[in-house]
Amino acid sequence: MKVGIDKIGFYTPNKFVDMVDLAKARDVDPGKFLIGIGQNKMAVADKSQDAVSMAINATSEYIDKIELDKLGLLVFGTESSVDQSKSASLFVKKALNLPKNIRTFELKEACFGLTAAIMTAIDYVKAHEDKTAIVIGSDIARYGVATPGEVTQGAGSISLLIKKDPSIMEINSETSMYSDDIDDFWRPNNFKCALVDGKYSTNVYLDFFKHCFEDYTQKQNLKTSDFEALLFHLPFTKMGQKALKLAIEGQDPETTARLLDKFVAGATYGKEVGNIYTASLYMSLLSLLEVDQPKAGSLIGLFSYGSGAMAEFFTGRLVDGYEKQLAPEKHKEMLEKRQKLTVAEYEEVFNESLKDLAESQEVQSDANGWYFAGTSNNIRKYS
Ligand code: HMG
Repeated sequence: MKVGIDKIGFYTPNKFVDMVDLAKARDVDPGKFLIGIGQNKMAVADKSQDAVSMAINATSEYIDKIELDKLGLLVFGTESSVDQSKSASLFVKKALNLPKNIRTFELKEACFGLTAAIMTAIDYVKAHEDKTAIVIGSDIARYGVATPGEVTQGAGSISLLIKKDPSIMEINSETSMYSDDIDDFWRPNNFKCALVDGKYSTNVYLDFFKHCFEDYTQKQNLKTSDFEALLFHLPFTKMGQKALKLAIEGQDPETTARLLDKFVAGATYGKEVGNIYTASLYMSLLSLLEVDQPKAGSLIGLFSYGSGAMAEFFTGRLVDGYEKQLAPEKHKEMLEKRQKLTVAEYEEVFNESLKDLAESQEVQSDANGWYFAGTSNNIRKYS
């Protein structure tokens, strides 16, 4: 049975910081952030955007186009959870009037969360072929002002509809996985920002990629040149570039040029948004499809990595006419219409967003779409 991605929704908040401004404020050569890290801009979520509101906005992009009576599963992958108990997916379900007779929950394994949700959804659809599943990744990456990780922050969400005979990409459920208990990046319950062993985390990422890629290509009898594109979890775009370098070592010039070109197309949105943890790999997929429009039938390799650490390499094939399901103009406009913050403004917004809300405090928003409106009796409200 062919199962995969049928719809994609994308959302990122309406504010950003320019990496040249940030570099100057931190007394760093802008070349380090632009080239060394590979980022141009970084999305900034104010207090009115959280993992739930961004997820509602991303899912809203396609919800009117799907058959709601077929929906059987809604899974929300995040590491920016808003509640220790209630699933973020229930807020989404209420906001979008989704049916009550569905299975819905939240899951977590750092940036691997959306891949875990996708693989769960594929198994679910294979077992219930008339049913569909919504899977969401939504996160705010926070390391803190003037930390080494600061330049790799970001915010956004990707929402996908998984179904039989999908209209965007069929996913091969034979994959290669690798996991180990590793302290490269973590966020204890009483911390608002992540803790990270930065350089170590980049080495573990590359090591896990090597394990998964070698195992997959061997098991599936594939060569690097068989891939039209290789896409990566992009905590910052240079990270994916380093992994790609390992894959293209010793390849012929044509394969090398193609994979480098496709990587650049797939990194276009990430360069403007930053790390969105669970959704980063899938923002790269969307970016490739909307910026480059590879031909139908192309084999795409995807590497998912979540610190802690869990990795999976898998592949998808683009379906004929997939372009019709995309909204490149809308996404371009969403990125272009964002408000540029000065570094001082960003710091203020960032520090405000870390503060706990008082009970029954209202939150205002200057963004279009759904937002977090504050609490009433410590219950979160979305408008
Ligand atoms: P750093 O110490 O600021 O940077 O940390 P650096 O000194 O290593 O420099 C970075 C690069 O810039 C180097 O290039 C420099 O040479 C270059 P590289 O050696 O890497 O090729 N550079 C310049 N280039 C051009 N012009 C210049 C210049 N100066 C220097 N003038 C680090 C960087 C990424 C470690 C830090 O930002 C960090 O800790 N970030 C957070 C951790 C992270 O993103 N890790 C990625 C792997 S783990 C992961 O992906 C999972 C994650 O998404 C979480 C999850 O799973 O939930 C993070």
